[in-house]
Amino acid sequence: MIAKIQELLAEVEQLQASNVDEVEALRIKYLSKKGAINDLMADFRNVPAEMKKEVGMKLNELKNKAQEKIAALKEAVETQDTGADDMDLTRTAYPISLGTRHPLTIVKNEIVDIFSRLGFTLAEGPEIEDDWHVYSSMNFADDHPARDMQDTFFVEARPDIVLRSHTSSVQARVMEKQQPPIRVICPGRVYRNEAISARAHCFFHQVEGLYIDKNVSFTDLKQVLLLFAQEMFGKETKIRLRPSYFPFTEPSAEMDISCNICGGKGCSFCKHTGWVEILGCGMVDPAVLEANGIDSSVYTGYAFGMGIERITNLKYQVKDLRMFSENDTRFLEEFTSAN
Ligand code: DAH
Repeated sequence: MIAKIQELLAEVEQLQASNVDEVEALRIKYLSKKGAINDLMADFRNVPAEMKKEVGMKLNELKNKAQEKIAALKEAVETQDTGADDMDLTRTAYPISLGTRHPLTIVKNEIVDIFSRLGFTLAEGPEIEDDWHVYSSMNFADDHPARDMQDTFFVEARPDIVLRSHTSSVQARVMEKQQPPIRVICPGRVYRNEAISARAHCFFHQVEGLYIDKNVSFTDLKQVLLLFAQEMFGKETKIRLRPSYFPFTEPSAEMDISCNICGGKGCSFCKHTGWVEILGCGMVDPAVLEANGIDSSVYTGYAFGMGIERITNLKYQVKDLRMFSENDTRFLEEFTSAN
């Protein structure tokens, strides 16, 4: 009997289980009523009296060992099992609230996307610019009012360095580096010395377009702008061009679209005219081509410039310009689905 007990002791020592069911099977095999240890207990009465003490102690040792071992196995597989069952590897470790794209970025991307489908590539220039790129190269006379302190932010002690007041400066940056054909779209931030209110801000955003090649005509400009307006505001959108003046284009025009808020019927947004102005445009003035190293007897071109805030207002009816730069997350979260 002692030998049998020793054998079981060694066996118990080596027990292993990898899940709850296996542990339960071991418990039944060794510790249940019909288990191996109970069988030995039943045989105990047949042990000679002089051996009872020794065998009894051994038997108790075996029972305790088996109980301990099986309890330890149970604990091991239980902790391991709950881990495996509950672990969802696709779950984030903690709740992450996703940010949203800024409405101006959404609209800028959309504008760039429309023009890139027409073959325009992206160009950028610096926000801190020199007078030449912002004004002189764009055919502004020395005494043009836009150069005035009222409009332009100058860098202190450097009257020739300004914060660009329009993205037309990028036209000059591109022309000085590249000969035609040129077809670029230039988004960026611009600065003007304006009192901040619901309708004006000291910085805002523009997108400039420039196309220079042989035989570029006003008709090409009109066609591209019509396509842009219809892609941006819907197929039913109409455009109209009104004569205007800009130093860098001749002839120049301002473009209105049929008010997309009232559908052209007249509302407070379009001041009951049915039309809203969205951009300035024209044929690049030959003086601008020449100033930037492009032969105006060979090439012609068109240019246009629009305010991103204005386009965004038309799309999303943002009433107060200041909301664009206040970073109020309640405002920004309204654009989650527009991303
Ligand atoms: N630079 C003008 C502005 O800031 C916008 C503009 C008008 C750009 C006509 C152009 C253009 O390229 O052809 O008001």
